[in-house]
Amino acid sequence: MKTQVCIIGGGPSGLMLSQLLHLKGIATIVLERQSREYVLARIRAGVLEHGFAALMREAQCGERMDREGEIHEGFFISNHGDMKRVDLHKYSGGSSVVVYGQTELTRDLYEARDRLQGVVIHNAEDVMPHDLKSDKPYVTYRSGDEIVRIDCDYVIGADGFHGVSRKSIPKNVLKEYEKVYPFGWLGVLSRTQPVSPELVYARHERGFALCSLRSQVLSRYYIQVPLSDNVEDWSDDAFWAELKRRLPTEVAEKLITGASIEKSIAPLRSFVAEPMRYGNLFLAGDAAHIVPPTGARGLNSAASDIYYLYHALLDHYQRGDDSGLDGYSAKALARVWKAQRFSWWMTTMLHTFPDSIEYDRKLQQTELDYLFSSEAAQRSLAENYVGLPF
Ligand code: APR
Ligand code: PHB
Repeated sequence: MKTQVCIIGGGPSGLMLSQLLHLKGIATIVLERQSREYVLARIRAGVLEHGFAALMREAQCGERMDREGEIHEGFFISNHGDMKRVDLHKYSGGSSVVVYGQTELTRDLYEARDRLQGVVIHNAEDVMPHDLKSDKPYVTYRSGDEIVRIDCDYVIGADGFHGVSRKSIPKNVLKEYEKVYPFGWLGVLSRTQPVSPELVYARHERGFALCSLRSQVLSRYYIQVPLSDNVEDWSDDAFWAELKRRLPTEVAEKLITGASIEKSIAPLRSFVAEPMRYGNLFLAGDAAHIVPPTGARGLNSAASDIYYLYHALLDHYQRGDDSGLDGYSAKALARVWKAQRFSWWMTTMLHTFPDSIEYDRKLQQTELDYLFSSEAAQRSLAENYVGLPF
């Protein structure tokens, strides 16, 4: 087989790039290790910055997001029960975020790919990029007993944190930066009315908690738990009781509980791999960087990679201009690190660290006091939360 751009990974990053390029007449093949059912069963986060929402519309798959997604112009931060609102709209110059599940967004991207008869190969096993330093790179995968070869101009590594792409960059070229936090988030999805129309991020000495939502009938809640906890140790009742303890009384009293329809523990990690280009391989999204979920930056940090790559590939194919491809890694990393900084800051300010000393807790308190006493600080929070410009 032959294509122009071979994309490894059929998550949001790979599908979005494939769709955008296809609309401009550039041929792509997407190779996904899992089945479509498996990919669409993964529960992921649910806040989209406006820049990502704009990219969905440009990719002609924003219709359902615009119909069913909710525009949020603010959220709450509770500090040991004292709840204050962050006015995103006011402090970001009129911007907002869209609350729309990433699982739904992935479904929309798959449907858009189907409408254009885009090639997405599922259950592609042993995917392997080759000759990345040459101008004739290729990718192989196994389908049953058969090894299939795809010749291409460029390989895009959009295969997430555990993918093969990053691992095919030699160790002496790749530098990895990692910070693992000493806790995880236990998340519950429930078919109940959300406790608050806007998200509530709660700092509490028993640990952080978050009230989020997918729609007016579907809620998503999280509590910070030690890494040693197992999801089986948490009954629904125990989860709801612990969540209530960490929320302001007026919120806890209104909380509607119900059976969990999904429950899982995710560890919190910050990670960046540099550079994001090796020869004709370009990394994008979780393949190159991970953030803890506290700042809602995961998908949004992938969005700018896709935007830069899309425009760089357009410049190459339409105008023979390679400056975008040459500058990709530096440009993408500059924004990636800002998302890292913001996610680290939100995480550090709001979580209870097992090894913290009294001095650290005083600083957390002061950080929050300062935030709500300073318009400049709230402007900084709002500008990062709605998404820095691409
Ligand atoms: N070969 C082919 N596909 C692979 C391989 C492989 N060796 N390894 C992983 N994949 C697939 C995974 O099955 C997954 O569907 O690549 C896809 C990567 O998707 P994501 O992990 O969703 O990463 P990305 O598309 O960059 O999305 C970033 O989604 O994961 C969240 O928190 C993340 O919000 C962020 C966003
Ligand atoms: C979610 O809804 O899953 C969610 C929302 C905001 C975050 C993290 C997760 O910061």
